[in-house]
Amino acid sequence: MEINLISDTVTKPTQGMLEAMMSAKVGDDVFKADPTVNLLQEKVAAMFGMEDALFFPSGTMANQTAIKIHTQPGDRMFCDKWAHVYNYEGGGAAFNAGVTSCLIEGNRGMFTAEQLESLVGGRNDIHTPYSRLVCVENTTNKGGGACWDFEELEKIQKVAKTNDLAYHLDGARLFNALVAKNEIPKQYGELFDTISICLSKGLGAPVGSVLVGSKAHIEKALRVRKLFGGGMRQAGFLAAAGIYALDSQVERLATDHQKAKEIGEVLEKCWYVTKVEPIETNIVIFYVNDSINPDDFIRKMADKRILLISMGEGKIRIVTHLDFTNEMLNILLEELNNYS
Ligand SMILES: Cc1ncc(COP(=O)(O)O)c(C=O)c1O
Repeated sequence: MEINLISDTVTKPTQGMLEAMMSAKVGDDVFKADPTVNLLQEKVAAMFGMEDALFFPSGTMANQTAIKIHTQPGDRMFCDKWAHVYNYEGGGAAFNAGVTSCLIEGNRGMFTAEQLESLVGGRNDIHTPYSRLVCVENTTNKGGGACWDFEELEKIQKVAKTNDLAYHLDGARLFNALVAKNEIPKQYGELFDTISICLSKGLGAPVGSVLVGSKAHIEKALRVRKLFGGGMRQAGFLAAAGIYALDSQVERLATDHQKAKEIGEVLEKCWYVTKVEPIETNIVIFYVNDSINPDDFIRKMADKRILLISMGEGKIRIVTHLDFTNEMLNILLEELNNYS
């Protein structure tokens, strides 16, 4: 049995999801004629209490579109130094939008309103780029699935408003945060100009992300999505998976979080582990001592058909998900305990 814990993107559609996909009513979405895509977009917009939404093939394209619609070439975007939009989207902010990134020295992928405020200045100084956008990520990926303190997000919104910055949330794993912190989508809808959510991570759909925002923002996003080559035709088969995920696979995220906590508790006691980052959702990040090379550790586990991934800087990452069963959890815990 292979136990794949490299990401929560490795899941396959459940039987119920497959049935929903197979029976979806579809049309040509580039002509806005796919009823299932329209339904998904309306559903997500309503969930967040925002005016409109747009379906995307990936979280990367949804984020890149948001950056593009909020900025002009040469503008400056603020994000954490570990942000996905900066580190893992191929340099897209610079390539697609011509935006320069101001990286904030945060903690586990999260910074403070005070830090942002200290960096925004220079609006009338011709030497500095125009500050246009602030992006946050919840939960943080490289930060180990950490959840933002909502009050800090509110404070950041105030700084953004005062300084005329658009406010985008990379919510690839926002539903993990909502479940972990007992929050609701509308709280976020009230705070942000745009939010991207991924259906293909913890929620278990095979493909798809949604960008939510005002009518005006989504109208611009539609054009940019076309320009990026993201207009899909009978995409309702995929949107149906997203609708199913939102209806049936949100609450179960708590199970992934519980399994991640159990893994963390075992790791804490392993002789070779020097540190386990706090575990709030479905991502476990840990470090091994100097006697073990992290890549060798990952290779040895792979020999046992347990797949983990390196996140650089000595970080080893485990991500729990829908296809990670209790039986797999027991095997993993045993292998971690017996590692020599
Ligand atoms: C925080 C975050 N944002 C965005 C993305 C991009 O999603 P996609 O892989 O669908 O492009 C990811 C993917 O892992 C992510 O972790």
